[in-house]
Amino acid sequence: MSDFFIAHCRQLLTLRGPRQPRRGRALSDLGLVRDGAVLIRDGNIEAVGSTRSLERHPSARRAEKVSAKDLVVLPGFVDSHTHLVFPASRAGEYEQRILGASYEEIARRGGGILSTVKKLRRDSGKLLLHQARQWLAEFAAHGTTTLEAKSGYGLDLKNEIKILETIRRLNREGPLEIVSTFLGAHVVPREYGRKPEPYVHLLVRRMIPTIASRGLAEFCDVFCDREAFTPAQARLILTAARVCGMEPRLHAEQLTRTGGARLAAELHAVSVDHLERVNRADIRRLAGSETICTLLPGAVFHLGKSTHAPARALIEAGAAVALATDFNPGTSPTVSMPMILSLACNEMRMTPAEAISAATINGAHALRRGDRLGSLERGKQADLCAFELCDYREIPYYFGVNRCRWTLKRGQVIYDSTRRFPREAGP
Ligand code: NIG
Ligand code: FE
Repeated sequence: MSDFFIAHCRQLLTLRGPRQPRRGRALSDLGLVRDGAVLIRDGNIEAVGSTRSLERHPSARRAEKVSAKDLVVLPGFVDSHTHLVFPASRAGEYEQRILGASYEEIARRGGGILSTVKKLRRDSGKLLLHQARQWLAEFAAHGTTTLEAKSGYGLDLKNEIKILETIRRLNREGPLEIVSTFLGAHVVPREYGRKPEPYVHLLVRRMIPTIASRGLAEFCDVFCDREAFTPAQARLILTAARVCGMEPRLHAEQLTRTGGARLAAELHAVSVDHLERVNRADIRRLAGSETICTLLPGAVFHLGKSTHAPARALIEAGAAVALATDFNPGTSPTVSMPMILSLACNEMRMTPAEAISAATINGAHALRRGDRLGSLERGKQADLCAFELCDYREIPYYFGVNRCRWTLKRGQVIYDSTRRFPREAGP
């Protein structure tokens, strides 16, 4: 493995700081170094600082020097909410929504999540693997180095395992790091008709213990909504998951407010995601909790809705806010964290600095990896991305264009459109 001395970064965003999720004003502190440099050794960061100061470092001479003269360099994005493994797009539903049907109406007619489930159950797993692998290359090309991936389109033991084994295989294959979440409680599968209780029973008694005993998921998620599961059902499911060693996270207050955010705070969930419909009391509770509030503006945008999560109120109340793509075929078909930053800034009035903190260090905390990922500090993993821009604010400013030029994971080049890295180290 080559060691690199990345020098002369136009702007280096270190995100250095205390090893806790960023809240309030701390979200604006990017630890910016002009003419910055990073020294990478054995996949980790050995030193960070100005190019001048690092040139004197004894390891700098041994490492391969790479110029980042016209680049803004920052920690790789940590996308803490995706539904990576799915069989096909739902472009037909997209058109129906444009013509006036709502997401909920389409779901009630048998489309939506259940139509993806039907297709996924027919796939042997080969196509799922192939497509997810292709999407992972796209994630890397947009600066993402770590992502979470949920099951939830199988909804029976065999097919949920098929998804989670695909995720495990992709994580082992690398180069991206993929954190797995069991989302058996996405919706009630068709074979249970309108009766959720027996399915909740199956989840609690059989699916969760089996998934946990096979070590297939680190986290357990529940879609808490009028069309999915109630907070009381979510409590049963997540309590069972915790007993089996899977930490809870929740989809809550997306389409309707059901009390999921309050439950998340009460259960000390790792994260609570969406939050478009939270009220003032929810905001206060979340701000006083350890739970990370993961905002997913891609889903609001793609559904053509106007109500975004109240990012400003959450930040001002002191909540720890993260941003993620929610990559999925129904509500947010994007792998682009830069696009999510544009939406966060334009639609939720987050500043570019707040959005970058939310997409890196706070994303890492939302996956319980804040001690190893999410910032460029000595001892942390060398996960970096570089954008050909003059200023970090241009990352959200230019929207719908990909200015990412290279991405490193554990110090290895996983994407390089500049050919600036020595070729033998390239993909
Ligand atoms: O995060 N809200 C539930 N799950 C996804 C949508 C999944 C789908 O429509 O396929 C979400 O938005
Ligand atoms: Fe989701």
